[in-house]
Amino acid sequence: MSAAYSFINHTYDVIVVGAGGAGLRSALGMSAAGLKTACITKVFPTRSHTVAAQGGISAALANMGDGDDWRYHFYDTIKGSDWLGDQDAIEYMCKNAIPAVVELEHLGVPFSRTEEGKIYQRSFGGHTIKQGESMAKRACAAADRTGHAILHTLYQQCLKHQSEFFIEYFVLDLIMTDDGRCVGVIAWCLEDGTLHRFQAHIVVLATGGYGRTYFSCTSAHTCTGDGNGMVLRAGLPLQDMEFVQFHPTGIYTAGCLITEGARGEGGYLTNSEGERFMERYAPHAKDLASRDVVSRAIAIELLEGRGVGEHKDHVHLHVEHLDPKLVHERLPGVVETARVFACVDATKGPIPVLPTVHYNMGGIPTNYHGQVIKDSNETVVPGLMAIGEAACVSVHGANRLGTNSLLDLVVFGRAAALKAAEIIKPNSPHPTLKKEDGAVAVERFDRLRYANGSLKTSHIRLSMQKTMQQHCAVFRKQSLLEEGIDKLKDVNTMLADIQINDRSFIWNTDLLEALELENLLPQSTVTINSALHRTESRGAHARDDYPERDDVNWLKHSLCWLDEKQVIKLDTRSVHMHTLTNEVRPVPLQKRVY
Ligand code: FUM
Repeated sequence: MSAAYSFINHTYDVIVVGAGGAGLRSALGMSAAGLKTACITKVFPTRSHTVAAQGGISAALANMGDGDDWRYHFYDTIKGSDWLGDQDAIEYMCKNAIPAVVELEHLGVPFSRTEEGKIYQRSFGGHTIKQGESMAKRACAAADRTGHAILHTLYQQCLKHQSEFFIEYFVLDLIMTDDGRCVGVIAWCLEDGTLHRFQAHIVVLATGGYGRTYFSCTSAHTCTGDGNGMVLRAGLPLQDMEFVQFHPTGIYTAGCLITEGARGEGGYLTNSEGERFMERYAPHAKDLASRDVVSRAIAIELLEGRGVGEHKDHVHLHVEHLDPKLVHERLPGVVETARVFACVDATKGPIPVLPTVHYNMGGIPTNYHGQVIKDSNETVVPGLMAIGEAACVSVHGANRLGTNSLLDLVVFGRAAALKAAEIIKPNSPHPTLKKEDGAVAVERFDRLRYANGSLKTSHIRLSMQKTMQQHCAVFRKQSLLEEGIDKLKDVNTMLADIQINDRSFIWNTDLLEALELENLLPQSTVTINSALHRTESRGAHARDDYPERDDVNWLKHSLCWLDEKQVIKLDTRSVHMHTLTNEVRPVPLQKRVY
């Protein structure tokens, strides 16, 4: 470590990195189990991106009298994943959805209510009863601000249970021992510029997705996949990174989310001919087909010249035919977003929308206890867990169903806490850290702090985002991906010529954005290389040159490593086609139609 610095040292039983829904649910569970728990977060907890989740959290409560059952949820999630999801993990999630939502209600989440006072539930894409016989009402909603309601409640509960918070701290890297154990993290306090060494028996990465690798996304500017970046630097792989979800209804130009709940309440899409085109692509589920299907349908409409507007580059979402009272009550955020970002009164006219990057199905490979695994044998990395969008459990496989994300956060946040409580004896002693533990992270920090090149972070980041948007979007093919890989190599070269103007330690956003870019860029590289490698179409990964799903060669997860010399290594891991109990049978492979 540079002589100029000293660390402030801390020891905890558990460190959770990230304070979104997954981080807070796990911190709550760990603290409640008597583990000394610190939650380190780069933004104030209630500003984490979970706050932007809108339409609902899925659980087969059957409150709307639709006869829903968690086994239908299990089936829908496997079909939604295009059979790439691990069925044991999906069983765990769907079965635990019901107690998880009841628990949230008891913790204080202000869900919307039915006339009888039950939790209100609405339809969402791909949610069905009896394998598609009819649409389910499975999304438990707090108007269209469900993530906001959950995040605030979980933060209050964490405070009640004495989780300790380190707010506006940016974690630079993991501390790994020579034998591959994670023993802590190095973090930078933005407020006073101090550097901290946090030691723990378990580090939980709950750092969210990396939507900001793309030019247009519904993700907050903070969604830079910092945990994924740390994992790659630690020599560990990321899994299924080629699967990037485009949400069909990002608002035109700004990209902010217009919830699928709008279609769940009866909204629909039209093209320039006023045609409800989803009837052609998904005759049964129509506008409530799964997201990959609807996004592809919109992309085809635009490619074939049936987009609306001067440039024929978007489509219309209609809710103006619905009772304005219902729209204001159930979809207040949609009304506000449409007014602010499209100057449209959604109760009177259509909202301009466009498929926009929304979610990363891929991430840090884990088992359903949240433990990170590092190879095709599923070897556990001691001391390291990952949950939420940062993780790839994998319950979403090749395509996530709407509202399964909030569910994933709370179910696997809780699962990680249960596992940690099983493994760790509270307040047990820590091995002594070596003086140089953490030095590599600080050297990287310093290299960037003094970077004296010619290119601004924003310029390099934009080049990366434009490349990903153009070369690794809804439709892909070999030549397009290869060109994208070459362009990203150039972007990597640009990174070596980065210019940092602010050399200070305190609230140095110039440096912070450069550190975030150093996390984003390797994830772009891994995503586009994984997309080139997978020579089939499955879920959100649509290859023009390989239009069919190929279960003979590709019913497997991809694993991708990237070393410091930018060398890619690829491998695969089997998909779990078994269940945990005999309450459900594995769902055999089928053709996926909606
Ligand atoms: O459309 C939405 O409200 C998004 C929900 C989700 O991504 O789960």
